[in-house]
Amino acid sequence: MEVASLRPDDILAMPRPENVPAERVFDFDIYRDIPDGMDFHAFWREVMDAAPFDVMWTPHNEGHWVALSAELSDQVMSEPDPFSNNTVLVPKETAGEAYRLIPLSLDPPEHRPFRKLLNDNLGPKPLRAFEEPIEQLTIELIESFKDKGRCNFVTDFAERLPVTIFMMLVDLPIADLPKLKHLADQFTRPDGSMTYPEVLQAFRDYLTPVLEARRGGGEQDLITQVINAPVDDRPMTEIEALNICTQVLVGGLDTVVNMLGFTFSYLARDHELRRSIAADPDLIGDALLEFFRRFPVVSSSREVKRDTAWAGVHLRAGDMVMCPTIVVAMDTASADSPLDFQIHRPGRKHSTFGKGSHTCPGAHLARMEMKIVLREWFARIPEFTLENEEPLSYTNGIVGSVKPFNLVWSPAG
Ligand code: HEM
Repeated sequence: MEVASLRPDDILAMPRPENVPAERVFDFDIYRDIPDGMDFHAFWREVMDAAPFDVMWTPHNEGHWVALSAELSDQVMSEPDPFSNNTVLVPKETAGEAYRLIPLSLDPPEHRPFRKLLNDNLGPKPLRAFEEPIEQLTIELIESFKDKGRCNFVTDFAERLPVTIFMMLVDLPIADLPKLKHLADQFTRPDGSMTYPEVLQAFRDYLTPVLEARRGGGEQDLITQVINAPVDDRPMTEIEALNICTQVLVGGLDTVVNMLGFTFSYLARDHELRRSIAADPDLIGDALLEFFRRFPVVSSSREVKRDTAWAGVHLRAGDMVMCPTIVVAMDTASADSPLDFQIHRPGRKHSTFGKGSHTCPGAHLARMEMKIVLREWFARIPEFTLENEEPLSYTNGIVGSVKPFNLVWSPAG
């Protein structure tokens, strides 16, 4: 397996803090692409297999720890003491400092009132009104390419549907989508075109006039509802409003796109599963549970609050610890044969939507969208495969993704 760009001797020669023993050092860079020909989640499974300990340290991205077991990753993600949300991205000094967004960068109790606002606006009741538009848009998009017998699944569908829905939810013009999507991607899979402070500033420049116009308004869109609601008993400040809206845009513009990419690229290769669902669409509910388990994409981090002995290492205040949701599902302690897709898997365990008080408030929307997409797609294109049999390519990052791929089917149905 070619997971390393530096030889172990080179890695060991790189400077490391005194609290990091040599045997804990490994060559892992979250922003390095997955090696050619390798499956995204199989890569993570191999990283876990190759590591001699469940907690390792990498010198890449300013140096940070990585939790490599389900138990430890969940613990880091859900215990604000000593694992604070003050900084949640690596590299800490550049990405982490710029990403002090609300509510993700707040620990309890400050986190609670902001989080309540998102729960109030993203739960099943407020989202009921969106079910029909989501269904209509899904059908419209599928019908636009169905008779061609082919599409680029990522660019023609996955990148269009959830983000268009999201723009409806926040009531922003679809014309602004490419710009916002590009900015959101720079936080999670930066391409080097902008620094992190530049990304943050660009979000602020975009949002400032929008928020000014919506202050005091009574419209039903997510932004108006959130920025005009009280934070406990006081109004939300301008900077809080900018930070919570940026967070919602970043959280909502990327993740469902990637979940769809992983799901459909898998379906295109698992002929038996595809045919079972086509024959019995009632299986979509169970399949969805397993898609969410099998395809976690987020690798968040936490900042250590105080010097702590933990899992055989000495963490220092200020150290960063990555808690990838991927390792939770890929741990053999959580699941037999974790890379297998088992539609009726017993005792399913995953943290795809996070763990603890920051668990994703957009999970209901994500589930709703995925369910509608699977239902409407199978009703129109029950049989489809990858156009080319060559292996897919994947990008690692804070949110992992499948690079664009083509699907083909018989236009006659
Ligand atoms: C399949 C789709 C999605 C996945 C896999 C996902 C995953 C996650 C994960 C793992 C976290 C926790 C991060 C951490 O604790 O460090 C999170 C938080 C968050 N997500 Fe999602 N998400 C998805 C969709 C969405 C959508 C559609 C939205 C917006 C409508 C959204 C908005 C947020 C926000 C605002 C947070 C921060 C919550 C807090 O700090 O309390 N997510 N998401």
